[in-house]
Amino acid sequence: GVQAAMQKAVEMAPDAFIPGGIPDPLIAEGHALIGAPVSRVDGAVKVRGAAPFAAEFALDGMAYAALVYSTIARGRIATLDTAAAEAAPGVALVMTYRNAPRIKPVPMIFTQPKAAHGDDLPVFQDDAIHWNGQPVALVLAETQEQAEYAKSLVRVTYHEEPATTSVAAAKARGIEAAAFMGEPLDVRIGDAEAALAASPHRVDAAYGTPRLNHNAIELHAVTVAWDGEELRLHDASQAVAHTAWSLAQAFGIEEKQVRVTSPFVGGGFGGKLLWQHQVLAAAASKLAGRPVRLMLSREGVYRVAGGRTLTEQRVAIGAADDGRFTALVHTGMVAMSPHNGLAEPFIMPAKSLYSAGSFKLSVEAVRMNMLANTFMRAPGEAVGSFALECAVDELAERMGIDPIELRRRNEPDQDPTTGAPFSSRHLVEAYRMGAERFGWAQRQARPRMRREGEWWIGMGCATATYPYYRMGGGAARITLKREARVRVEVAAHEMGMGTATVQAQLVAARLGVPLENVTVTYGDSAMPGTILAGGSQQTAAIGASVIAALRALFTDLLRLGGHGTPLDGLHFDEVRGLEGGLCKAGDGLRRASYAELLARAGRDELQVEGQAAPPLEARHWSMHSTGAIFCEARVNAVTGEPRVTRLLGSFDCGRILNAKTAASQFRGGMIMGLGMALMEKTLSDPRNGRVMNPSLWDYHVPSHLDVPPIEVLWTDLPDPHAPAGARGIGEIGITGTAAAVVNALYNACGTRVRDLPATLDKLL
Ligand code: MOS
Repeated sequence: GVQAAMQKAVEMAPDAFIPGGIPDPLIAEGHALIGAPVSRVDGAVKVRGAAPFAAEFALDGMAYAALVYSTIARGRIATLDTAAAEAAPGVALVMTYRNAPRIKPVPMIFTQPKAAHGDDLPVFQDDAIHWNGQPVALVLAETQEQAEYAKSLVRVTYHEEPATTSVAAAKARGIEAAAFMGEPLDVRIGDAEAALAASPHRVDAAYGTPRLNHNAIELHAVTVAWDGEELRLHDASQAVAHTAWSLAQAFGIEEKQVRVTSPFVGGGFGGKLLWQHQVLAAAASKLAGRPVRLMLSREGVYRVAGGRTLTEQRVAIGAADDGRFTALVHTGMVAMSPHNGLAEPFIMPAKSLYSAGSFKLSVEAVRMNMLANTFMRAPGEAVGSFALECAVDELAERMGIDPIELRRRNEPDQDPTTGAPFSSRHLVEAYRMGAERFGWAQRQARPRMRREGEWWIGMGCATATYPYYRMGGGAARITLKREARVRVEVAAHEMGMGTATVQAQLVAARLGVPLENVTVTYGDSAMPGTILAGGSQQTAAIGASVIAALRALFTDLLRLGGHGTPLDGLHFDEVRGLEGGLCKAGDGLRRASYAELLARAGRDELQVEGQAAPPLEARHWSMHSTGAIFCEARVNAVTGEPRVTRLLGSFDCGRILNAKTAASQFRGGMIMGLGMALMEKTLSDPRNGRVMNPSLWDYHVPSHLDVPPIEVLWTDLPDPHAPAGARGIGEIGITGTAAAVVNALYNACGTRVRDLPATLDKLL
């Protein structure tokens, strides 16, 4: 099946079988390791508690930091009394803007290739307050408890200035156009409003999603030490290279003078980038002349590390009698802080999911005095797919068409807003597989048709989608030893996704060596490459880097050791790794072992480095992972309580490289979508902008008992234009899920919730 699909893809686009310009024969030829459900190579060390996280590196003479947070949203510090804290037991120093070392502004994300900071505000350089919760003092003590106690003794007063802390006030101050990664968030094709008005069938509704916070199980933490002008960080990071570069800018030193390692990360999701705490820990360490550990409390994460911003969205769809969309309107606004580079781009799904006669898609922004928001799993798609996919469901019901059938009638055969061909898209097949497995045929078209005792029962579905990204700057180093042992070094990240495992599978398959011969090392800014664990792009970015490094390795092996072997005169792309050596492609008898090639080269080992080809594939092709989410939900007819009883995700994400880790990625994303649908909401006091629920007591995420059985399946059809045929899988699970849940709740009880989370008060 896989080989036939790949063959067909190549026939359809013979000149374009190129991930960034390099042919990838591995997937077409197939291999037992590709797709195998290999357990995490780091699994045992994690469950034994032997995996060190950022706050578990004990350094000699280390002091512990605690932060004092501002209690106003905007203004100036009037008085700052640190005497009592400084006199408290065990306190080494109290750092404020008055004694902090000079720190240059940390570049804001997207402004430069390695920028990763949420804002570009000064850190402890003046008395200005920009959000409620901004750090105003750092207490350093011999123990964490002493630091926490002393922090309670710091007294701060403020000159308050007028602040914008409610959405209504922000709107009154003005709405501006928004952009994402430098691209305006504005697409207009035809006259969508006129087409909408002229359509015989239409929906036109407003949807809202609240501000959401990151709640990775591992708190943001950093352990830092200076050695002269060299800065060393153990960080919880999904961007080690970015963090090293950014801190070098902040402290005015060379990039190579900063080394950031992050071998294990307890969850990332976009939040484990660069925030004030790393900068403050490094500054305090410099000031105190000793190593420092700064672990944010759970409250601290809410005050210091940004999450997802709120959205107000309008989706309007006009349709002809046959269900074909004549107009697709998706507009609305997001809230941003005055220093902020990330407008939540909620129109992304509408750009590529449906063909329509006309489009009007735009995101605008208002500014509020609050912590800068940032990436949070599928920024844009998570909340945009909620609004869009609920609207499609509403239209389907209005027209009396099955919602899957309505989507099928609007399935585009090329990107509907750019005209680019899809690299590979099998969403209709994903729906077919998912519907069959889920038992969609049992669904009642109308709500309140199924009841068991007090519970109304319903089914809903929605489309999931996330773009394929591969950012530039990928590179990898590979060392091959005589006994066919291989070491891969790449400045990438393992946050629980299975990165090292999947890459080891790929490298073992490409080299033709056993899986246990391959060690993938990562999480170190001193290693090659600038690879963000974000945008669901790590697998492709590392994959392309490894392809480039192996190309260099094969070239060197042939050049240095190929003479006198059956491989003499062959070019790197004429050979393949097989059974501990290289062979001529398609001729396993014409071969030489790695041991022989290295011996002839007079080497014990060969080390090479490769730079990934520029990511041109996404310029030529419209590349998106897609999927179909199905939900069965219950609503209590007496209390309104919602319960999700079944979830199923059927995904089309190209070749699945490890069935076990992929299933976990999909499930994890869907659980986060479940939280978004039913529970999560950051509450900010509109009077003063203070986050009111900065804890897992008050900010609810799904617990084990809230999570139903989740089935996942996939088409497994390789994308001919992605390295290893694989598009991203890390973020797509959260997309579509909230809509599927809300559509199922509607199908159960007949109440349509358009404002997340769908809590019981909204369902009765
Ligand atoms: Mo993901 S929001 O790019 O970590």
